[in-house]
Amino acid sequence: MVAQLRKIIETYGAEFSYSTLDPFIQGPKALDGISLQIGKGELVAIVGGNGSGKTTFARLLNALLLPTSGTVYIDGVDTKDKDHLWEVRRVAGMVFQNPDNQIVGTTVEEDVAFGPENLGLEPEIISTRVRNALREVGMAKHADAAPHLLSGGQKQRVSVAGIIAMKPECIILDEATALLDPAARKEVMDLICRINREEGITVLYITHSMEEAGLAERVLVLDAGCVVLDGVPSEVFSQVSRIRELGLSVPQVTELFDQLRQEGFDLPEGVLDEDEALAALMGEMYAE
Ligand SMILES: Nc1ncnc2c1ncn2[C@@H]1O[C@H](COP(=O)(O)OP(=O)(O)OP(=O)(O)O)[C@@H](O)[C@H]1O
Ligand SMILES: [Mg+2]
Repeated sequence: MVAQLRKIIETYGAEFSYSTLDPFIQGPKALDGISLQIGKGELVAIVGGNGSGKTTFARLLNALLLPTSGTVYIDGVDTKDKDHLWEVRRVAGMVFQNPDNQIVGTTVEEDVAFGPENLGLEPEIISTRVRNALREVGMAKHADAAPHLLSGGQKQRVSVAGIIAMKPECIILDEATALLDPAARKEVMDLICRINREEGITVLYITHSMEEAGLAERVLVLDAGCVVLDGVPSEVFSQVSRIRELGLSVPQVTELFDQLRQEGFDLPEGVLDEDEALAALMGEMYAE
C-alpha cells in the first residue's frame, strides 16, 4: 500500500472576491472555487497568465486573505480560525517578488532573526536558528552585512533564510526570481529545490518561467481563478495547444519537440530538458 502523504494544504471550493474588501471594486471573482490537496514534501509550481489568481491563492494560504466562500486548511488548521493565525503563518511562510520590500533589519543577521523573534523564542534558540538558516542559504559570511548592499539574488536568499529560521512546513514563493538576472534566478531555484529535497519542506512557487515550472514535481495551471490543469510537468506540458490557448508557453525544448513531431518525427511528448531531449533524439537517430 502506498503511504498517504500528510496533507499540508487542503482547499475546498475556495473563492475570493476583492469586492469584499472594498465594495467599489468591480469584476469577477479572483478565485472561483479551488479544491486541491498538497502533501508534505511536494514541490509544486503554480503558473497562469496575469490576473489568473496566483497571488490571491498564495495570500489565502498564508491567511493574508480569508476565502469569501469555501475553506482553506493549513496543516489541518482552518485559516479562518483567528486563535491559530500565527500558527498558520509559521507553518506556511511567504517569500515575495521584491526582496527590497522584505528587508526589515539593518544587518543580514538581524533581518533573519525578525521572524523567530516574533515567535517569542529564547535568544539562544533564535541565534542558533539564524546561524543555521544563513549557512543553509550560503550567506553565513554575510551575517554582518547591510542587506540593502547585497545583490538581488543574495537578498532573496536572505529572505528565504528568514523563512527557514521559522522552521516552516511549507514555503510559498510568489515570483521570487522575477526581478533577478539568470544566474541569480538559478541560485534561488537551486536553493528552493535543495531545501525541498533535503529538509522535506513543502515548496509552492509561482512563476512565469515555464523552464522553472518544469523543475517541479507537480504543476498547477490557473486560469480565471480556477485550476485548469494539475499534474506532473511532462503531462501538463504535453498539452501544448491547451497551454497556448491559455496564453501561456511551454518550455523551449518542449516547443521544439512539438514542432518536430508536427514535421513527422517520432518523438515523445512532454520532453522538458536537454538531457531528455538528447536521449530521445539519439533514440530516433538509431531507430532509422
Ligand atoms: N488588491 C486588489 N484589489 C482589487 N483587485 C485585485 C487586487 N489584487 C488582485 N486583484 C484582481 O484579482 C484577480 C487576480 O489577481 P492576482 O494578483 O491574484 O493574479 P496573478 O495571477 O497573481 O497575476 P500576475 O501574474 O499579474 O501576478 C485579477 O483580476 C486582479 O485584477
Ligand atoms: Mg501575482
